[in-house]
Amino acid sequence: MQSGTEGVNVKRILVLNGPNLNLLGTREPEIYGRLTLNDINELLRERAEEAGVDTIDFLQSNFEGDLVEAIQKARGRYDFILLNAGALTHYSIALRDAIAAVPVPVIEIHLSNVHRREEFRRTSVIAPVVMGQICGFGIDSYIAALDIAIRKIRKDTE
Ligand code: DQA
Repeated sequence: MQSGTEGVNVKRILVLNGPNLNLLGTREPEIYGRLTLNDINELLRERAEEAGVDTIDFLQSNFEGDLVEAIQKARGRYDFILLNAGALTHYSIALRDAIAAVPVPVIEIHLSNVHRREEFRRTSVIAPVVMGQICGFGIDSYIAALDIAIRKIRKDTE
């Protein structure tokens, strides 16, 4: 057993990525970097394993309904959701309502700093119902979110 993980029973994390994030690596690399989504997921998987996380699952979809369903089904199955909703962040009330309806904490992630880009990206309709937002740090936005989720789960199970 890893040091610091003793006594922690359940750590299940779901990583959700929304529209166009399947194109990472080739999509506007000057904004989003050159890592693919697979690269990011593998880094998260390694880090989660090192930290003694039981389960880390990944889903990317270009369809709003898939993400809504994944959030609905997360109840009782996951302790945390890490969510980069892509453009849905800025207008999907359905996603916001799903997050509000399910008692699983969500961390909102963005690779880019959405607050220093176009005006429409400064609005996040999910921000009021998530635990917090991390943006602007590229892959480190995901890593920071994972680390925070792990720390929070540890505190809750201590
Ligand atoms: C993004 C920012 C969104 O505005 C954009 O639509 C994306 C990616 C990010 O990770 O920086 O698809 O969520």
